[in-house]
Amino acid sequence: MHPPPSEITPRALVENRRQAVQHLLLGAGALTAPSWATGQTQAPGKLPPLAHKPSQVPGAQALDKPSAYQDATGYNNFYEFGTDKSDPAANAHTLKTTPWTVDIEGLVKKPGRWALEDLMALSAMEERIYRLRCVEGWSMVIPWVGFSLAELIRKVEPLGSAKFVELVSLADPKTMPFVGSRVLQWPYTEGLRLDEAMHPLTLLAFGMYGEVLPKQNGAPLRLVVPWKYGFKSAKSIVKIRFTEKQPATAWNQAAPQEYGFYSNVNPAVDHPRWSQATERRLGEDGLLAKRRKTLPFNGYEAQVASLYTGMDLKKYY
Ligand code: MTE
Repeated sequence: MHPPPSEITPRALVENRRQAVQHLLLGAGALTAPSWATGQTQAPGKLPPLAHKPSQVPGAQALDKPSAYQDATGYNNFYEFGTDKSDPAANAHTLKTTPWTVDIEGLVKKPGRWALEDLMALSAMEERIYRLRCVEGWSMVIPWVGFSLAELIRKVEPLGSAKFVELVSLADPKTMPFVGSRVLQWPYTEGLRLDEAMHPLTLLAFGMYGEVLPKQNGAPLRLVVPWKYGFKSAKSIVKIRFTEKQPATAWNQAAPQEYGFYSNVNPAVDHPRWSQATERRLGEDGLLAKRRKTLPFNGYEAQVASLYTGMDLKKYY
């Protein structure tokens, strides 16, 4: 799953890419000659051109076509902006995404604060078409844009004692009207085992559908962990902390018997209040249509099952 050497980006191109990203974030107009790109100018709010051709990730069914943009951006979970599916699209316009920084903390050789534009320039971005299966029983297929979280992790050099990664979302009551509500503890936090975080499928996403992330989808950067229930994919990340002990996570704290730390998509393990055997694909399966079967690890079993060899996945749900 690692890119062949021909796809590794030379250092000079990274510097040019960083400058281009800065222009984008500042909302500057057309860029002059981004030498790393096609030579074309870009409108503000656009991502740098993709280094890799869009490709269907192995394991995705031939039937999988990207969900409609309106579904992916109009039916969301982002509890900082309300608990209704339509709330994030209606309310997230108050989120301020520039300037934005991400703190790297804990058990790493190179802790520190990253400006968003430096982070975006760290590696070439590619489009990855991933299914996202929500624990509530619906799913979408989204063309995300970003690079593997492993690229960042390698750069900050975790210590041997680091076993887990904690992701922390922004919690700003001034711009996020439901931060402070009692539905969850804030900030929203999520966690992965270090080997899960290093898996090449685990994506640090900055965009979708070829554009920067809409605010309701977790701008300016979020995680996408396609073989896990959607809540593991933390939005609007401001902190990444490396720990020895398994970190607490927002949903596990809110309802430990319902939402475990692992939360791998598993049709054989029901949620205490509903079956997880089937799902409704938004935009394709109508409310009255037959629901489709949920696949183990959301269809990414071939790539990720080996991470869990010997584990009882009913116990570690
Ligand atoms: N991240 C934060 N910070 N707050 C949230 O409420 N909801 C999660 C996850 N990340 C959530 C979050 C849940 S339950 C899901 S299903 C996905 O985001 C939804 O992502 P989408 O709206 O882009 O489909």
